[in-house]
Amino acid sequence: METISKPPKPVLSLPWKTRVGLSVIATFTDASCRKNGSVNRRLLNLFDFRTPPSSKPINGVATHDVIVDKSRNVWFRVFVPTNENNITSDLPVIFFYHGGGFVFLAPDGVAYDAVCRRFARKVGAVVVSVNYRLAPENKYPAQHDDCFDVLKFLDDDENRKKFLPKNANLLRCFVAGDSAGGNLAHHVALRACEFNFRHVKVIGAVVIQPFFGGEGQTDSEIRLEGTPLVSKKRTDWMWKAFMPQDKDFNRDHPVINVSGPKAVDISKMDFPPTVVVIAGFDALCDWQKRYYEWLKKSGKEVYLFEYPNMCHAFYIFPELPESAQLIGQIREFIHKVSSKIGN
Ligand SMILES: *[C@@H]1O[C@H](CO)[C@@H](O)[C@H](O)[C@H]1NC(C)=O
Ligand SMILES: *[C@@H]1O[C@H](CO)[C@@H](O)[C@H](O)[C@H]1NC(C)=O
Ligand SMILES: *[C@@H]1O[C@H](CO)[C@@H](O)[C@H](O)[C@H]1NC(C)=O
Repeated sequence: METISKPPKPVLSLPWKTRVGLSVIATFTDASCRKNGSVNRRLLNLFDFRTPPSSKPINGVATHDVIVDKSRNVWFRVFVPTNENNITSDLPVIFFYHGGGFVFLAPDGVAYDAVCRRFARKVGAVVVSVNYRLAPENKYPAQHDDCFDVLKFLDDDENRKKFLPKNANLLRCFVAGDSAGGNLAHHVALRACEFNFRHVKVIGAVVIQPFFGGEGQTDSEIRLEGTPLVSKKRTDWMWKAFMPQDKDFNRDHPVINVSGPKAVDISKMDFPPTVVVIAGFDALCDWQKRYYEWLKKSGKEVYLFEYPNMCHAFYIFPELPESAQLIGQIREFIHKVSSKIGN
């Protein structure tokens, strides 16, 4: 006689190296988030290793830093592929926004420096990784303003000539980011639809595991409590750090609940083709799916890349085969969209 057993509950299985990495990140972010809503940056700086730019190529990519506004500490790191077989006369430009809940990290942190280097080399693109002001010291919209200002800065001919390589083609710009950076990528793309640039043309968005939310809690947030990095306690803390102190501003604001009741009607906008990346063990995946559905319903060209066995921020870890797989998929998307655009 056959017994019918229930399928086993899926469990997240990661190599120990990745587990250690994830738990180190969680430990230090938790320890530096104070109960009163401020961040202990001194503690954090002990473990937040930074790396300088290098004009001598590392792994086939040279880097340099450019200051946009010293008073706000807005700057970006440019990643230029130098391998002969990567250089064409015409490289797409990826504006990249790092994750960290709007509170942590920077383009010169070792993890994101390495990620952008991989993007530049594997995609064959110039990457512009933006240092934006962080919360809670700076509330919304500081982060979004800073990221958008970098597009305006490079729209200026003088700046472009001075700070980007000749083969960077601003008619082929992409905005990309993960987690809080995914939120930024979406909103920068939205702002770009309503702004008249002279040279910059945003032709695609790569929105990786974006940090979205709302007043309510989704099923995945409840079901996946306890999976790496994202928890109710942490997201509550981060949204509070991010939101301006204004009694009318809650989590259903369209910058957080993008596809919610106050969503912007994008159906008539020239919103660019978009990739949405989600993972099965990311507590934010229901929000991200809603975002994908919303783009589709609004008539936009949108692709869902789903990684059922991965968790939040998985692609930061180069030891995971899924990380290389994702970068490969993004490369295909960028080349497909770029090839449709004339020079
Ligand atoms: C929170 O606590 C820290 C350390 O005790 C203190 O330096 C900081 O000023 C406090 N911030 C606020 C917003 O009360
Ligand atoms: C760039 O060159 C490296 C090394 O030869 C290769 O691994 C990578 O796939 C190339 N990237 C592109 C976009 O062709
Ligand atoms: C957020 O947006 C969703 C739609 O995506 C909407 O159903 C919900 O009311 C909003 N807020 C909450 C409470 O989740």
